[in-house]
Amino acid sequence: VKVDRADFRDAIRRARSGTSRPDDMVWVAEGAASGSLPDYQLAAWLMAVYIRGLDDGLTVALTRAMAASGGDPARHPGRVDKHSTGGVGDKTTLVVAPLVASFGVPVAKMSGRGLGHTGGTLDKLESIPGFDVHLSRERLAALVQEVGVAVAAQSGELAPADGRLYALRDATATVEALPLIASSIMAKKLAGGAPALVLDVKVGRGAFMPDLESARALARLMVHIGREAGLAARALLTNMDQPLGWAVGNAVEVNEAVDTLRGQGPPDFVELVVAVAQAMLAVAGVNATPEAVRARLDSGRAYDQFQRWIVAQGGRGDAFDGQGHLPLADRRRVVEAPSSARVARVDPIGVGEAALHLGAGRLHKDDRVDPAVGVRVLVKVGQQVDRGDPVAEVYARVDRAAEAAVRRLEAAFGWGEPDRVWPTVLDRLE
Ligand code: URA
Repeated sequence: VKVDRADFRDAIRRARSGTSRPDDMVWVAEGAASGSLPDYQLAAWLMAVYIRGLDDGLTVALTRAMAASGGDPARHPGRVDKHSTGGVGDKTTLVVAPLVASFGVPVAKMSGRGLGHTGGTLDKLESIPGFDVHLSRERLAALVQEVGVAVAAQSGELAPADGRLYALRDATATVEALPLIASSIMAKKLAGGAPALVLDVKVGRGAFMPDLESARALARLMVHIGREAGLAARALLTNMDQPLGWAVGNAVEVNEAVDTLRGQGPPDFVELVVAVAQAMLAVAGVNATPEAVRARLDSGRAYDQFQRWIVAQGGRGDAFDGQGHLPLADRRRVVEAPSSARVARVDPIGVGEAALHLGAGRLHKDDRVDPAVGVRVLVKVGQQVDRGDPVAEVYARVDRAAEAAVRRLEAAFGWGEPDRVWPTVLDRLE
């Protein structure tokens, strides 16, 4: 379709009055990908949709058009994919990819980098010296054949309409709209050719979706889009009201992933990993009980699979010490409980920002991340502590940064009666 700018004003009018047509969705996706529509028209359309919404049928049409904007979908080399809507301390892929692969179900995944207070899987993997995330399609497929698992950087050619629209949404305060988030995520999954998908939709203070109702609506919409496109999809709604696990950073999160793969993970993270892995196996047609999944962690089989994967993708095995850990920055600080009390709150954004300002994330798109810095939050909401107990640790390069991180972490804690204590998995959509 050729999109005419004068005609596109009609599409904007329809979006404004809530009377969009499926063809309008094709216009938007084509016009965004080809550059035939200017930023100002797309921005106006996005704001109209932000305010008026899109019904499910139009959202499916938009997703399909965006997915097709880079050409035909790729042949996916794995049997199952996963996606998390993002959070703090979310190192789930590092564990579930080899864990699921250890059941003979190949996992191939495209991942992104961190921005703002949320970390990115690629940055975490790149803290392993030598690990290469820039894989051609052929190399990705070959690795999946060879070791059952591979994780690659998402290329800009995957759903290019989304690349343009996402940047405009970021600049026009139109990110947090359900049809726009759902179509953005699902277009990339469809373009990547995912055969089956598990969505980990985060809920709470550190998530896009702060409350259970909006998270459930997003999850339902994404599962619906997937099914309309013939994709076996399930969603989990999971707790991002506090950081996931203990570690937040890059190498420090890889270390926690290794501990988890060796049966020594933080209880909340282990619970999430088991739930996500079980759902991934189920959509791929393999029934496994939670006990059977957990046993793979305790037996070391998932860890063997992890080691083979890391080395196959270029990671240097000798970078890990005897415990399977990467080195961390050596300016250490401990944050202590100011009084004897219960932990009422651990603000994930505050913790994420503490790690970000240490250098674990990017303040600007082109910043370099420092693999060795980060934090560990040692307590969970609801836990009782005594005055002086260590509640967090800082790994910094320089003293000044360490002190600043301590202050940020101190401000992230609340003490007293928690107003809510959520389970790790709040709901499941099957
Ligand atoms: N992640 C995406 O890829 N797109 C969104 O809109 C939100 C999160």
